[in-house]
Amino acid sequence: MRAIFTALLGAALIVPSLSASAAQTACDEGEQKIRFSHVVADKGHPKGEAAAEFAARVNATFEGRYCVEVYPSSTLFSDDDVLDALVAGDVEMAAPSLSKFETYTLAFRIFDLPFLFEDIAAVERFQTSPAGEAMKSSMRDRGILGLAYWHNGMKQMSANRPLKAPEDAAGLKFRIQSSDVLDAQFRALGAEPVKLAFKDVYDALGDGRVQGQENTWTNIYTKKFYTRQDGVTETNHGIIDYLVIVSRDWWEGLPAADRAGIGQILVEVSHEYNRFSFELNELAKMRILENGGAVRRLTKGNREKWVDVLTPVWRQFENEIGASLIEAALASNRR
Ligand code: LMR
Repeated sequence: MRAIFTALLGAALIVPSLSASAAQTACDEGEQKIRFSHVVADKGHPKGEAAAEFAARVNATFEGRYCVEVYPSSTLFSDDDVLDALVAGDVEMAAPSLSKFETYTLAFRIFDLPFLFEDIAAVERFQTSPAGEAMKSSMRDRGILGLAYWHNGMKQMSANRPLKAPEDAAGLKFRIQSSDVLDAQFRALGAEPVKLAFKDVYDALGDGRVQGQENTWTNIYTKKFYTRQDGVTETNHGIIDYLVIVSRDWWEGLPAADRAGIGQILVEVSHEYNRFSFELNELAKMRILENGGAVRRLTKGNREKWVDVLTPVWRQFENEIGASLIEAALASNRR
């Protein structure tokens, strides 16, 4: 919890300066390594902070036996490679964004539907419902097990010109994660989606491969995307959340008592750190403003226009995702 408090005080919201190949923990000889790969900043970011805390607690509890090595900022694998690497046994744990699972199971496309979830509280209600819980084991046959959902936050949109009404995005190239729903979302705006790994976004915004992007405040701030954009519009049009995954063969090969102990630490860290994702994103938004970035709010009328243009995208994916799953997600908004 200490790291979170440091981050909330502002001291840790700085892009980390790890060397390109460095893991965050040095393991002792004889300890069984648990490599945890992710792509975001290690500080000031909900996923980076939670992964570091999980490692610290496992390493203290299982001193001399297990050692979690966290590789942040794509220093081991990009999100596009990590799923195959996990199945191949080249890494034991990861926490990719939910948008990255569609090649393994189409139901995960639900998390990318624009304007489906009102906020992260609704996302959490859906994830903890029977339907959301069942999705964690939906990739079992492919060698991947989901253990916990981690939150980041709502997505915002930015470009090299002001985005007020949806038509402002037309004709621009936007970086997207590798998701066909996100592809359809930008096509609905008359824009051109370009699939790129997270580690390439900052450069691509600078060299003109793309003119815009969508992401959470913590990603936009910690990876400095806002410095290469005209401004960020507070669209809250979608979400970025994560599934902490393990290689099924590795996990089920652990002694049952160790699996229970490591699993319990993950449950506790997920519960504690998911509470802080909203504040970390608000803090990152504040830092963007302090550092001279522009943040635009949508008028009520313009927000309605974005909703009208983007929600028809749902229909394209309804059959693959399942109408009942969409209903369950919508129900999570109404409490
Ligand atoms: C992205 O690719 O934009 C995100 O999935 C990165 C992340 O892990 O938050």
